[in-house]
Amino acid sequence: MTQNQEAPTRNHLRNLWYFAVHAHTLNPGEIRPKQILGEPVLLGRTKAGEVFALRDLCPHRGVPLSRGRMVDDTVECPYHGWRFAPSGQCRLIPSLVGQEGVDPLRIHVYRYPVREQNGLVWIYMAEDERSPAPTQEPPRLPVAPQARPTLIEAQLFPCPIDHAVVGLMDPAHGPFVHKAWWWRSQRSSYAKEKKYEPSPMGFTMVTHTPSSNSTLYKLLGGDRTTEISFQLPGTRIEHIKAGQSEIIGLTTCTPLNASETEVTQTFFWNLSWLAPFKPIAQIVARTFLGQDRKIVTDQMEGLKYNPRMMLIQDADTPAIWYFRLKKEWTDALAERREFTNPVKPATLRWRS
Ligand code: FES
Ligand SMILES: [Fe+2]
Repeated sequence: MTQNQEAPTRNHLRNLWYFAVHAHTLNPGEIRPKQILGEPVLLGRTKAGEVFALRDLCPHRGVPLSRGRMVDDTVECPYHGWRFAPSGQCRLIPSLVGQEGVDPLRIHVYRYPVREQNGLVWIYMAEDERSPAPTQEPPRLPVAPQARPTLIEAQLFPCPIDHAVVGLMDPAHGPFVHKAWWWRSQRSSYAKEKKYEPSPMGFTMVTHTPSSNSTLYKLLGGDRTTEISFQLPGTRIEHIKAGQSEIIGLTTCTPLNASETEVTQTFFWNLSWLAPFKPIAQIVARTFLGQDRKIVTDQMEGLKYNPRMMLIQDADTPAIWYFRLKKEWTDALAERREFTNPVKPATLRWRS
């Protein structure tokens, strides 16, 4: 047994895209506050439908702009009525009479880069306000541009992002945390062997035939294959194919702050026969994610006492890789150099 003492770090990775919100929940003309990486963010959508995100602090005297309202596609601060365009530029200071020498157009509130694709809104959390424009784009899902989510389940995990990510990628907890008749016909475990390859910002469990012991997979029938990929900061994409049928499961971890992480599962599928079963699928998704949430909540109880933690081969190797990826990302950023993926191709074996 090898041990790895890389402790979960508290730092949140910068210069990366984080999932912010599902696009359909943000209506034209709406603004909404959301804490992301400990920062107050205002998410909004113009009447024309463009999504935008601003620092949720008025540059005048710090009132959250989200407490104001949208007026003519600008955000109006509720304190003195300064108005800000979706670009962050100040467009109006109502108190000015014209001889103060104050030019509203020279005042800005920070605007976060955002992208809307496949019904998902992503936000780029730069290192600081002067950081250059993003050099990468949010994760591309293996779906058509017009594809929209078919099922969504989001839960707030009362833990730092690291424990949420490690818990979700951990292959050994299944038989203990996810006990359910529709998932496992009995409490039994199987020896597994999976091949992994590095990917640009993470690693991929290469296409394999999923274990046939799950009732859920059996329902799909056909020749099933699954590919699971992980990439920084905490994004997992599972792609299941069975003949013409496809299910894509996206899991994102968005840290709201150092002690709360929003874990969101968004599914896409092309299985019309599944439509009547959607309420059941929703319950399954809620139960599953709830089980992950419960064990991490219990874990937080123990972590109050600051115990040392272990990561063992091979079941914890994905977690070890996650911490290495994270460290390399942080180092590359600090040293102003290219990120080099530290993960090497490997075959991992475990029983679960
Ligand atoms: S604090 Fe926002 S306008 Fe004064
Ligand atoms: Fe789990």
